[in-house]
Amino acid sequence: MEIIRLTPDDTPRFLALRRAMFDTEALSFRGAAADDAALGEAAWRERLVRDYVYALVQDGEWLAVGGLSRLAGQKLDHKGLVWGMYALPAARGTGAAARILDALEEAARAIGLRQLQLTLMADNARAKALYERRGYVLYAIEPESVRRGDVYADEALMWKRL
Ligand SMILES: CC(C)(COP(=O)(O)OP(=O)(O)OC[C@H]1O[C@@H](n2cnc3c(N)ncnc32)[C@H](O)[C@@H]1OP(=O)(O)O)[C@@H](O)C(=O)NCCC(=O)NCCS
Repeated sequence: MEIIRLTPDDTPRFLALRRAMFDTEALSFRGAAADDAALGEAAWRERLVRDYVYALVQDGEWLAVGGLSRLAGQKLDHKGLVWGMYALPAARGTGAAARILDALEEAARAIGLRQLQLTLMADNARAKALYERRGYVLYAIEPESVRRGDVYADEALMWKRL
């Protein structure tokens, strides 16, 4: 098993994985396949240059993925946002997601970030347990943060000082 940093050439495969992820886990994410499509492949290619996106690979299969963006702005660029955390169902409970979080944190430290932030749906107990185990702390609940048709769901906001 190895951790790889994705490059722009990985964009089609990464987007296909995200489409499958949104199909099967729609309730776990604030994003949607339609948002990825609207952003377009060219913008995603740039994102894979700018951001740190890692996959845990075994026999060529991507078991888990996750990304890190540095916030833009002179007064904000000490912060990083962890996004798109996903483990294939067969890879859950194996530590695969934790390895991705560790890689993201290592990248964050290497570029001098002071803190990491992430959001999750407030009812995602499994993700919350994972993040807490990795040292993230809940600091707020954003009420009705996500709209699914006529239904609104809260998000939990967590952070970790590095
Ligand atoms: C969230 C995700 C990345 C976590 O990876 P994982 O491999 O499943 O994580 P773990 O197996 O280490 O589980 C994390 C913790 O939750 C616990 N847990 C497992 N199932 C649970 C459940 N149904 N409810 C509550 N806690 C649960 C585990 O016991 C573990 O805690 P512990 O180490 O203290 O025992 C993965 O489940 C996933 O991809 N889920 C679908 C997409 C998603 O929710 N992404 C996150 C968006 S913010």
